[in-house]
Amino acid sequence: MSRNSDGYKKTTRIVHGAARTGRWDYSHHVVPPLTASATFRLESVKRGARGFTEFGSFSGADSAEPVYIYDRLDEPTRGLLESQLASMEGADFALAFASGMAAVSAAMGSLLESGDEVIAHTLLYGCTHSLLTNWYPKLGIKVRRADFTDPAAVAKLVGPRTRALYFESPVNPTLELVDLRSISEIARKASAGRRRKVYTIIDNTFATPFCQRPIEFGIDMVVHALTKNIGGFGTDVGGAVCGPKELFPAVMGYRKDFGGVLSPKAAWSILVYGVPTIPLRVKRQQYTALQVARFLSQHPLVAETRYPGLESFKQRDLALRQMRDFDGGFAPGNMIYFRLDEKKASGVEFVDHVAKNAYCVTLAVSLGHTKTLIEMPSAMTHSAYAGEGPMREHGGIRLSIGLESPVDIIKDLERSLAAVAGRRRRA
Ligand SMILES: Cc1ncc(COP(=O)(O)O)c(C=O)c1O
Repeated sequence: MSRNSDGYKKTTRIVHGAARTGRWDYSHHVVPPLTASATFRLESVKRGARGFTEFGSFSGADSAEPVYIYDRLDEPTRGLLESQLASMEGADFALAFASGMAAVSAAMGSLLESGDEVIAHTLLYGCTHSLLTNWYPKLGIKVRRADFTDPAAVAKLVGPRTRALYFESPVNPTLELVDLRSISEIARKASAGRRRKVYTIIDNTFATPFCQRPIEFGIDMVVHALTKNIGGFGTDVGGAVCGPKELFPAVMGYRKDFGGVLSPKAAWSILVYGVPTIPLRVKRQQYTALQVARFLSQHPLVAETRYPGLESFKQRDLALRQMRDFDGGFAPGNMIYFRLDEKKASGVEFVDHVAKNAYCVTLAVSLGHTKTLIEMPSAMTHSAYAGEGPMREHGGIRLSIGLESPVDIIKDLERSLAAVAGRRRRA
């Protein structure tokens, strides 16, 4: 039986969460064992048949004892992680996938049929953009793009075939925010009287559920790359889809048949190390990010600095409204986006200098790590845009703040800025 967590704070519940549950029989372990059983003993044909009959129907409660059949269908360690993720997001269910992209494609793929339309924000993580431009049209799914920072522009595009509204907030990499309440209202109104509802899907990877819980604002489905700040240590790739129980059979069925399931070994690391430490890590990263963002915003070589925690952030009011941690504190996250004044210094030269000389800032893609990571999205994570559309104007630099001292991160950035400024003066 799971102990009663009523009245306990989320920060406490993610430490103890589902460590004891009727979903498995190792309830005396303080740390859940790392399971590694591809298949499960069924005892009788009757039990096997029950497992297959019940599979895919939503049971919800942790106390329900599932019939485990086969890892790709359902599995106890991953199940514990899923129960924690659902609780963090305030969702009926969470299902874990082999990567963030497996989760993104399952969230949309479980809803969309040939002939349907999805409306997506103009700027998305590069591989999501590639999924929508290179693959969905081949499947007869029409993809329309709108600026989701302008809800009226989204509302205008919604038509009888629209099935999903898809976006990120904060947007990767430029950190614009989308008004969650307004987008959920558009879908709610559009769904009235329809047989097939219009669903809203957000990729909440940049924020993590610690900083933002979109379901509280009426969003239907939340997608995560667990690879990032939920996993938190950069050791495992994974993804998750969280949503309402009416969508559980479709997402579970999609995962079973397309097969992109998270391995229990990866689930165990994310469950044991990643999830309980999210508040600690993100609070520290936010403390540092604000100092780094202030440093950058005052530097003469930097043309623009975006960080939702900066007083000068364009959508400051929206950030204050929807980016809130478990205890209600402002939670602007750990991501910074900035651009150099190219008349004074080259962004590419700066990042190259960091790559070769910095001690604690590493040139690498990914984000939400213990280590501070820097990258140039137009050339790397967002190269699928080929410098077109929303990436046309952005020679920007993305920083994912880690757990180092802010003083040292600033020291590394300052040295490389000084070095490239010198080059431009000498040229
Ligand atoms: C916002 C966002 N969503 C999804 C993904 C995909 O995650 P994964 O690399 O685990 O497939 C990424 C990867 O960088 C991302 O930044």
